[in-house]
Amino acid sequence: MRTQVGIVGAGPAGLLLARLLQRAGIDTVVLESRSREEIEATIRAGVLEQGTVDMLNECGVGARMMREGALHRGIELRFGGRAHRIDLAALTGGRAIMVYAQHEVIKDLVAARLESGGRILFGVEGVSLQDVDTRAPSIHFRRNGGAERLECDFIAGCDGFHGVSRPTIPSRLRREFVRSYPFGWLGILVEAPPSSDELVYAWHERGFALVSTRSPQIQRLYVQCDPQDVLEQWPDERIWTELRARLATTDGWKLREGRIFQKGVVAMRSFVVEPMQHGRLFLAGDAAHIVPPTGAKGLNLAAADVRVLARALAAFYRSGDEAPLAAYSAVALRRVWRAEHFSWWMTSMLHRFHDDDAFSLRLQRAQLEYVAGSRAASTSLAENYVGLPWD
Ligand code: FAD
Ligand code: DHB
Repeated sequence: MRTQVGIVGAGPAGLLLARLLQRAGIDTVVLESRSREEIEATIRAGVLEQGTVDMLNECGVGARMMREGALHRGIELRFGGRAHRIDLAALTGGRAIMVYAQHEVIKDLVAARLESGGRILFGVEGVSLQDVDTRAPSIHFRRNGGAERLECDFIAGCDGFHGVSRPTIPSRLRREFVRSYPFGWLGILVEAPPSSDELVYAWHERGFALVSTRSPQIQRLYVQCDPQDVLEQWPDERIWTELRARLATTDGWKLREGRIFQKGVVAMRSFVVEPMQHGRLFLAGDAAHIVPPTGAKGLNLAAADVRVLARALAAFYRSGDEAPLAAYSAVALRRVWRAEHFSWWMTSMLHRFHDDDAFSLRLQRAQLEYVAGSRAASTSLAENYVGLPWD
């Protein structure tokens, strides 16, 4: 088999890249180790920046998102039993976020790709990347028991944090930056009406809590937990007790409870690899970087990477100009590090780090009061949260 750009991974990065390249007339094949059913059912992120929304619309896959997603013009910081609204739109010249689940984005992208005759090979095994530092790289894999080879001009490694693409770059040529956090998030999906019109990021001495939504009938909630926790340690009643305590306000706000039908623990880490390119292999999304979810940046960064990469590949095929490809890593990393800082900062401000560190708790409260009370500080949060301009 032969294609122009071989794409490893059908997550947001891989599928969006395939869509952008298809619209630029560039042939791609997407290789995915899981089944279509699995990738369309994996519960992950929920917040799309304005720029990501615009990008999905521009490439013709935004119609269902515009109908079913919820546009939010503000978020709430909650601490000391009180709500403090950050008016995202007013502070950023009208920008907003869209709450629309990642697996819905995946469904829309897979449907659009298959409808337009694009190739996605699901359930491939034993993927390995060969000759990536030559002009004729290839991807070797097994499918339906047989060995296959995909010859490419370029390979896009969009296979997430645990994929094979990043380790293909020789370790002496890559530098990895890591920070882990002493907590995780327990995420749940609940059958209940929304408890709040906007997302609530709550600081509490018992730990962080987050109220998000999926639809008028389904809500997404998170509580800070131990990263080693297993689900058996979180029976429903414990989850509700923690959420009630961490979200309580002095004005009688009520958490709407209901049947919990999905639970999972998310680990928290910050990670960046430099550079994001080796020869004709380009990394995008979680394959190259991870952020803790507090800033809601993971999926949006994946979209930002592939936007830069698609433009660079289009320039190459249009005119043979290799300069944008050579600049890809540096251009992408500028946005990556900004998002890394924002995600680390939000995480540090909102989570309980240690049991006996009263000094840190006071610092967090001082910072939260400053962010909530100062127009300059809340503007800084708002412009990062809605997403800094692309160019
Ligand atoms: P992925 O979505 O990881 O996609 C990579 C794809 O590659 C997968 O489909 C995988 O099956 C496939 N793959 C892997 N290895 C191979 C291989 N060898 N061959 C072929 N295919 C392969 N972000 C937020 O902003 N908020 C959240 O609440 C949030 N929650 C998250 C919860 C979890 C459990 C995880 C893991 C991430 C979460 N994120 C969250 C981050 C966000 O979901 C990611 O940043 C986003 O999915 C990145 O997209 P991607 O396409 O780069 O990678
Ligand atoms: C959601 C996830 C996040 O990481 C976040 O910061 C806000 C919302 C969500 O899943 O809805």
